[in-house]
Amino acid sequence: MTVAAAIRQLVVDGLVETRSGRGTFVAARPEATSAPPPDLSWQTVALGPRRFGEEEMQALLALPPSGAIPLSGGYLDPDLQPADALGAALARAARQPASWQRGPVEGREDLRAWFARETRADGGIRATADSGPRAIADDGLRATADSGPRAIADDGLRTIADGGLRPEDMVICPGGQAALSSALRALTEPGDTLLVESPTYLGALATAHAAGLRVVPVPADRDGVLPDQLAAAFARTGARLFYCQPLYANPTGATLAAARRPAVLAALRDAGAFLIEDDYARDLTIDGDAPHPLAATDPDGHVIYLRSLTKSAAPGLRVAALGARGPAGARLRAARLLDDFFVSGPLQQATVEFVTSPAWPRHRRRLATELRTRRNALLAALHRHLPALVPPAIPSGGLHLWAPLPDGTDDVAVATAAAAAGVVVFPGRPWHAAEPPAPYLRLTYAAAPPAAMDEAVRRLSTVLPPTSL
Ligand SMILES: Cc1ncc(COP(=O)(O)O)c(C=O)c1O
Repeated sequence: MTVAAAIRQLVVDGLVETRSGRGTFVAARPEATSAPPPDLSWQTVALGPRRFGEEEMQALLALPPSGAIPLSGGYLDPDLQPADALGAALARAARQPASWQRGPVEGREDLRAWFARETRADGGIRATADSGPRAIADDGLRATADSGPRAIADDGLRTIADGGLRPEDMVICPGGQAALSSALRALTEPGDTLLVESPTYLGALATAHAAGLRVVPVPADRDGVLPDQLAAAFARTGARLFYCQPLYANPTGATLAAARRPAVLAALRDAGAFLIEDDYARDLTIDGDAPHPLAATDPDGHVIYLRSLTKSAAPGLRVAALGARGPAGARLRAARLLDDFFVSGPLQQATVEFVTSPAWPRHRRRLATELRTRRNALLAALHRHLPALVPPAIPSGGLHLWAPLPDGTDDVAVATAAAAAGVVVFPGRPWHAAEPPAPYLRLTYAAAPPAAMDEAVRRLSTVLPPTSL
């Protein structure tokens, strides 16, 4: 295997070539030429200025330098990824010729059905005895006629026993970022306004700018977006789209409080607007039960649901789903088709096999335990070395802590100095669509082993001002 891998590398480098039935030979060397170096300077003029956020996204996705401890990164440490189960499922899928064929462009029916089922409020609902086919709830939200008996979700919003989204509302996408990018382009025109929580996912800001959108931040706190500010922002800007992470938001870890959900949905209804619910962290719950998705209590189709499996399984499992009711769903499916036709068949088949096998609930249980251990190890290390950076609100899930820095600290300079000291952290500034109110660091606890947390925070403490200690 080592020799085969070495030969493969030499073939890639163009130094040897394999000839079928004859063997492996040293490749002919190209003649050295004395041609002048190419002149690419014209491209600078042709391309114009660089787009907002691209550089930060490259930094966000950069691999940590060897020897550095990663307290940054959007994915699980390889030790936490279910690589064996995924590998076995993918090998089985790849052996089936049918999986290589063209399927429905919107994705396999069984996979769409699985994602659709996940949008139901199963966790928190109880059916009401007096439920009829269609009724107005106390909060003014309507249950859909074709959705069976009504129920009440844990936040008091009416939902439907078989509610949430249906398989035909879903389209499978190659990861959450691709889904988000398609959704923004499908639902807006360049020049439109996008409302976002502040701070929010850097990749959402970057892709919104790439789509030519004007991004307007709406303040959020430890209980998620402020509904009255959201309503005011809709009224002031005329926006028709709000990007939101109601569960364990990246970067803050905040979860939209149950008491705020009706007001957020009412603001959407009043503005005739959509909300993209980026449910990236549903499988990353550490404490208690996750509240149901907003999409479960949205009979009238204001919520565009986005769920990716890359965070909870492996970054290479490029499978996510977008779901929406009505014409918006049709727009999304059409947009996805233009972007890249469909997602690889073997990957879709392996995903269905994995998420419907006992390995999936087992993996999620293990993940909750492991993430709790890592989050608590990082918190303990902060208490020990950098108590000023302990976040006032501890997230009940997700991958990150949002650590406040002392007033006046340059977060970008701290992140650069930390990398030089052997610990990778991400500055808070790029996560804001406007001026950040205060300096922060995003500290990821999922990418490094618990035993490394103490040393990571000790290294960080060497580059911070004494006021943090
Ligand atoms: C909130 C959020 N949404 C979407 C994504 C996109 O991830 P992926 O394309 O791997 O699914 C990320 C990745 O960091 C994220 O943090």
